[in-house]
Amino acid sequence: MKKEKQALRRRMLALRDKTHDSAADQAMLKTLLGLDLYQKAACIAAYVSFGTEVDTHALIRQALRDKKRVAVPYCVPKSHVMQMLEISRFPEDLHPGTMDILEPDPEKSPVVDPSDIDCLIVPGVCFTEDGRRLGYGGGFYDRYLPKLAAMSRCAALVPEAMLVDSLPTESHDVRIPKLITERRIIDCLNIE
Ligand SMILES: Nc1ncnc2c1ncn2[C@@H]1O[C@H](COP(=O)(O)OP(=O)(O)OP(=O)(O)O)[C@@H](O)[C@H]1O
Ligand SMILES: [Mg+2]
Repeated sequence: MKKEKQALRRRMLALRDKTHDSAADQAMLKTLLGLDLYQKAACIAAYVSFGTEVDTHALIRQALRDKKRVAVPYCVPKSHVMQMLEISRFPEDLHPGTMDILEPDPEKSPVVDPSDIDCLIVPGVCFTEDGRRLGYGGGFYDRYLPKLAAMSRCAALVPEAMLVDSLPTESHDVRIPKLITERRIIDCLNIE
């Protein structure tokens, strides 16, 4: 299973590098900003995009402008634990951490209680329309998502090119209820 996931991850990341389109990123962001999931959220959490990942920098800036509480991931060193830390300035409150990805400073940025998060934007390599997700292989989000007050508080921004018909999943893999693509919103849990 591990090998199967790794092979698909490698193939889809190569495809993502080839197909990445910032106009599509902007379209996904615009859709998200129009949803109650975003608009009604007092507290939002999002990964900090890197490379050809769907951009979240514009989302983080907008949420700060909208006076929401904003939290970004921090992986506790030498553990499998991820926390969401609250930042007040972007990118000033971040510095390059593991693999050069921008991280908050645990000395300066407080941990947000997972049950306070109203909207969490989940990263991933590829997804199926029924909400199955292939991550980067750390298991961080599979461990974190069950701590949310409700799964309906999370969604993913997914380019159409990153939708696949099927992907290998294990019992710990958490399904994502809503995918936002550059063309549509997919309510995954309605699909069986
Ligand atoms: N809830 C969990 N409890 C214990 N171990 C887990 C849990 N979720 C994932 N793991 C372990 O983490 C490892 C990576 O899992 P997986 O391949 O699903 O990562 P991923 O979904 O790509 O990563 P991420 O969730 O960080 O995006 C696996 O070895 C798995 O057993
Ligand atoms: Mg997983």
